Amino acid sequence: MSHTTRYPVLTADEAAAIVNHGDVIGFSGFTPAGATKLIPKAIADKARAEHEQGRPFKVGVVTGASTGDSLDGELARAEAVLFRTPYQSNKYLRQAINKGEARFFDMHLSMLPQSARYGFLGKFNVAVVEAASVSNEGEIVLTTSVGAANTFCNIADKILIELNEQHPPEIQGLHDIYEPTDPPKRREIPLYSCKDRIGTDVLKVDPSKIAGIVYSNLPDETGAFKDPDEVTQKIGENVATFLANEIAAGRIPKEFLPIQSGVGNIANAVLGALGSNPAIPPFEMYSEVIQDSCIDLMKSGDLSFASGTSLTVTPEVLTDIYANLDFFKERIMLRPQEISNHPEIVRRLGIISINTAIEADIWGNINSTHVMGKDLMNGIGGSGDFTRNAYISIFTCPSVAKGGAISTIVPLVSHMDHSEHSVQVIITEQGIADLRGKDPIERAQIIVDNCSHPTYRDTLQQYFANAKHGHTPQTLATAFAMHQAFLQEKDMRKVDFTS
Ligand code: COA
Repeated sequence: MSHTTRYPVLTADEAAAIVNHGDVIGFSGFTPAGATKLIPKAIADKARAEHEQGRPFKVGVVTGASTGDSLDGELARAEAVLFRTPYQSNKYLRQAINKGEARFFDMHLSMLPQSARYGFLGKFNVAVVEAASVSNEGEIVLTTSVGAANTFCNIADKILIELNEQHPPEIQGLHDIYEPTDPPKRREIPLYSCKDRIGTDVLKVDPSKIAGIVYSNLPDETGAFKDPDEVTQKIGENVATFLANEIAAGRIPKEFLPIQSGVGNIANAVLGALGSNPAIPPFEMYSEVIQDSCIDLMKSGDLSFASGTSLTVTPEVLTDIYANLDFFKERIMLRPQEISNHPEIVRRLGIISINTAIEADIWGNINSTHVMGKDLMNGIGGSGDFTRNAYISIFTCPSVAKGGAISTIVPLVSHMDHSEHSVQVIITEQGIADLRGKDPIERAQIIVDNCSHPTYRDTLQQYFANAKHGHTPQTLATAFAMHQAFLQEKDMRKVDFTS
């Protein structure tokens, strides 16, 4: 498939001119991978110009998940965000959200596309997608992510394409585009193993909706991860030890099960530890994000296949992948987030989910999204899609944050994303709390003993010892005393439950 001239070639400003105040835009991108860069920046410029003229200009921003600074950062700085969903991780947008300047509502990532199709998010005026190529017949080869681009293109009135020359048309074959039919006609999704191809390698759109093409040559705005430190290394080793013991105990099949892993430094360390543990066989991933560490594991033979919705790798790693496309096309498949995160598939394949918590309480509830109960960090992402449906659901976090002033193990989470009913294992650098088959009191004891930091262990034990009655013996009057201590004195160590 080659670049064509059927569609008007536009500058980014000309593309932005078709966007109006109040429009809802579906942007491609899942993490900075595959996110458009020039058109959102031009929309932000248009917003600034309109604001200078005293006219309102804001747009609804719907994406796959987080994006790059050229999208979320630019639009937030231009005060051009009417509303935003789902996951984001941009510091400027986060500030705007927490100041109440940009409306944000969080969604499970697998549900975003169907909610858009069902009309729950209003009318979509424009889809803005990054492509490696587009044919006269409207066949688009996407770039480093699929996310919800397929759905946005299907439901939006108009499509704007950023044709990015960083991505050779030969990447056709990396993607598998499949969109379920909606109830009452929905059937099972016919995907029975990580490698199954169930759709098309191009995104087919109505070519008459393509309003123009903007040429681009910008790399994904993907940052590098920190090398694992002592804490993340230990968390990774604890996860690998837990899974190796499960295989030895016969609770996980010997050939192992597909892994879903969150994104970030801990996830990187966990994947590294799985790869280097001799008791873990070469494994497959059925996950969301395929990151640098996955590529290393593929090269060493420890990871045999990765299905995801985004290839979120640093530019150097992407260059390596594009130089060895034959090798990687056999090992990587990018699917719509509706499929990569679909509960039906997660349950069917028996996925082991590994996600990161901001805090966990002694009963097993998890907060993934909010700091001190009120400020949004990023969002729930796909953690709920996987956790609720996993074969085994694992949460990891360091036992303390902010140099020890915060215990991530608390009496009661200050915001709840995943309940004790969905969370099976909690792992910190201190150890492993296997919560399966345990009642609330047993769970509390094992979380305090195995996962909390020694600095906080007596405090948490005292809280728990004071609370004697009930199936879940909580003391509502002091359940947030540790959070209060941090808010008032910047240190949870100031709490004393003995008084
Ligand atoms: N209270 C207050 N702040 C806390 C905290 C707590 N209990 N725990 C961590 N933090 C702070 C850290 O200090 C750090 O702040 P800083 O950037 O100012 O230093 C920040 O939160 C991020 O912590 P970090 O340890 O760097 O974690 P991370 O980059 O691994 O991210 C999450 C952790 C939970 C924010 C991230 O994994 C996330 O957004 N998860 C939700 C979505 C998800 O699970 N997606 C994967 C599904 S496939």
